[in-house]
Amino acid sequence: MELILIQSKEHETLPIAELKAVLATEEIATEIECVNTGLILLKSLDWRKFRETYKILVKRLAYTHEIDEIILNTSLNNFEDDFKSIDWNGFISNSYAVRVKRFNNPEIDTISTEKRLGHLIKSQNSDFNVNLENPDSFIRVIISDNRVFIAIERFKLNKKHFQNVKPHKRPFFYPGSMSPKLARCMVNLSHVKEGQLLLDPFCGTGGILIEGGLVGAKLIGSDINWKMKNGTIINLDYCNLEDYEVYHVDVRELKLFKKVDAVVTDPPYGISTSTGGEESPIIFQQFLESISKYMIENAYLCIAHPHYLDIDPMLNDYNFKLLERHQIKMHKSLTRIISVIQKCGL
Ligand SMILES: C[S@@+](CC[C@H](N)C(=O)[O-])C[C@H]1O[C@@H](n2cnc3c(N)ncnc32)[C@H](O)[C@@H]1O
Repeated sequence: MELILIQSKEHETLPIAELKAVLATEEIATEIECVNTGLILLKSLDWRKFRETYKILVKRLAYTHEIDEIILNTSLNNFEDDFKSIDWNGFISNSYAVRVKRFNNPEIDTISTEKRLGHLIKSQNSDFNVNLENPDSFIRVIISDNRVFIAIERFKLNKKHFQNVKPHKRPFFYPGSMSPKLARCMVNLSHVKEGQLLLDPFCGTGGILIEGGLVGAKLIGSDINWKMKNGTIINLDYCNLEDYEVYHVDVRELKLFKKVDAVVTDPPYGISTSTGGEESPIIFQQFLESISKYMIENAYLCIAHPHYLDIDPMLNDYNFKLLERHQIKMHKSLTRIISVIQKCGL
């Protein structure tokens, strides 16, 4: 069985990296094909675990807009005949909508194609009704160059979540908070699983912890600023998260009674957030030293840092290995780097 994913084009590498990390974390065996920028095919999925796989992807991914199950994979020349040949009784119970999306095909008129395809369904079973607002079955036709994918949406991605938990909409706000989408993506890049322990020792307003909690991780957060510690608790409660511990502590004095499975964090750059009176390269070094003791072997660390801060020489000192790196251009003089790092065994 196959799924087709429409991904965000807001970043070149993060959407696909996030997807690969979730597939690996959740042990979903599949073959990935990048059909076009923002269009990904997942092939050879185990049909016995199909619904479960679908649900996991829908629940976790930040940079994926839509996930559909492929009904038929065809070509531009004969897709309308193929569309007609589908027994729609197997896919539609009552109301439906057909939506066409094109990649690299400016000559296709999506509105008239949607109408024609909608009529083809109606001519097969006149009991079906078109409902463009809230259909029971959403039929997606994706045209990419000469290829056409006829698909159906089984579960909706909760697109509103990332709008609803934007930093200024949470009860505790402080400037410099990370966007919920990037926070979720970083959580995914950390390979943390449901029930595992995730640490953010520079938790600020709790944005990363919220996203970690929503994918089912148990949370430990800490911050040098007591207002941030209290604000994080307010924000975690607001999101109905319960499995957390949050401390008011300097990362250099962090003491944990258990090792964590993943660390996801956004340390201060020394520009808009306090560094506890320390230069930012030194705080990064001290942070790596401090957390290296509390990470299980092979645990991932996903960290945001500014382009001008070279953390590579520090990694070896504490037995960390760089796995991947992504760049986000913030403005002329700041590029944010997302590094995915692994704690090696001794
Ligand atoms: C960039 S902010 C984190 C923002 C957070 N990701 C969010 O979305 O709100 C960095 C945080 O590190 C905290 N901090 C600075 N120095 C620290 C230290 N030595 N130990 C622990 N926390 C520290 C600051 O109080 C600040 O809240």
